[in-house]
Amino acid sequence: MTLTDRLGEYVRACFTGLWVESHEHQDALVAIAQLCRQEEWRLATWDIEQGLKVTGAEIEAAGNDPLAAIRAVNSLATPDGTAILVLQNFHRFLQSAEIVQALAQQVVAGKLNRTIVVILSPVVQLPVELEKLFVVLEHDLPDRKQLAHIARGIATEESELPEGQELETVLDAAAGLTRMEAENAFSLSLVRHGRVTPDAVWELKTQTLKKSGSLELHRGQANFSSLGGLSALKSFCKRSLLQTSRGKRSQRARGVLLLSPPGCGKSEFCKTLGNEVGRPVLILDIGSLMGSLVGQSEERTRQALKVIDAMAPCIVMLDEVEKAFAGVNGSGDSGVSSRMFGTFLGWLNDHESDAFVVCTANDVSKLPPEFGRSERFDGIFFLDLPNREEKDAIWNIYLDRFEINRDQRMPDDAIWTGAEVKACCRLSALLDVPLLQAAQNVVPVAVTAAESVERLRTWASGRCLSANHAGVYQASIEGNPKRRKIEPSTN
Ligand SMILES: Nc1ncnc2c1ncn2[C@@H]1O[C@H](COP(=O)(O)OP(=O)(O)O)[C@@H](O)[C@H]1O
Ligand SMILES: [Mg+2]
Repeated sequence: MTLTDRLGEYVRACFTGLWVESHEHQDALVAIAQLCRQEEWRLATWDIEQGLKVTGAEIEAAGNDPLAAIRAVNSLATPDGTAILVLQNFHRFLQSAEIVQALAQQVVAGKLNRTIVVILSPVVQLPVELEKLFVVLEHDLPDRKQLAHIARGIATEESELPEGQELETVLDAAAGLTRMEAENAFSLSLVRHGRVTPDAVWELKTQTLKKSGSLELHRGQANFSSLGGLSALKSFCKRSLLQTSRGKRSQRARGVLLLSPPGCGKSEFCKTLGNEVGRPVLILDIGSLMGSLVGQSEERTRQALKVIDAMAPCIVMLDEVEKAFAGVNGSGDSGVSSRMFGTFLGWLNDHESDAFVVCTANDVSKLPPEFGRSERFDGIFFLDLPNREEKDAIWNIYLDRFEINRDQRMPDDAIWTGAEVKACCRLSALLDVPLLQAAQNVVPVAVTAAESVERLRTWASGRCLSANHAGVYQASIEGNPKRRKIEPSTN
């Protein structure tokens, strides 16, 4: 349902206080004006700069006094019609007790003469006195149909806009942009290339997301072949995602939680998954959602989740969630991170969009327990230090990539992670020294953080799925060198 449809329903049902959350006021105003024309409702708008404007009439009163603006709505009332007053950015004035009181009275009185107050604002900040009197509507980001409409409005020559499958990829690229941003992206592409191309739109979207600060679009070529091992995890995610694109909404894959000591390939796995299944990877930086003003963090979180929904089908990566949500159980930030966490968990449970979430964590003890509940994810995977076979696969990747001579002695890599194999190869190539010598500069995490690696294994045992073989991870299976107990280094 579009904003117009929903607004129309509420107005007909005589809801007299409506709060429309929108970042594109001009566009929302156009939609409201259309609705009013269609239904023959009277419309007036007010903002601090232009004062009151009544559509189709020359009345310009009330100046920039917000209190007078609220009262002016009654002068719009007709004996048998409906009148709507749109107050733009009125959240700015709700610190005043008089204004809150006047609004409350108006919303109640409006039921009698069918006068309706619509507050248009980029945020939802209702004072408690008004909470029960207003219904909040969201002005959604444009859907594909609307984006196509915008594109056609800009690329008016036939050759300027692609058709068929290529048009679909242009719309994929534009998903998640606001109307204005989409318009800019299409225009820029036209100016630069003479036609609307998906690449130009992607480029602009990458920049737009970066500017917003909390979402980043990962662009890279790597796929699963750049990761050694992890076969169970790879096939699980690939299968469930491909199944999802065919299946019904109720069977959609939700996501996975990946646990491991640092350097076992969690972040890299997530980035390669996108290319493997042909979906964009969005990296959500939870730390940057934290705002300094009350309410800002939740607002930003909701905004970011909306962009994610609009970009579906996509993959969302939340890296090192234990750091992001570390404050959740503590105090000191007046509950901001708890509320943000709540907003996020709610979305994780309820979102209808086809967004596959990959969360990674190096330490479960800092993770709020609600998070790990298995029903939130399709699977919680433990990535142990790679076993012999996996390590050989990883060596192969990096010996090739760094063009290292294979005819030499290999270092003792018994407790190495993939990151350590990579570091050894990189150093060997960089310093032009044998692998054995390069290995002296590699300090395995299994040594530096032996206890936490052991703790993680113990926790994961019986609780998590194994990333390298089908089934549940069991730390106690001995005889496998990778699972032998790690002794903290004595030297
Ligand atoms: N199984 C693996 N195969 C290939 N490279 C790996 C593997 N595991 C880790 N690496 C490499 O090590 C580096 C660190 O991995 P990363 O994904 O950041 O680890 P994590 O997120 O688990 O801490 C990356 O450059 C990654 O490519
Ligand atoms: Mg990582």
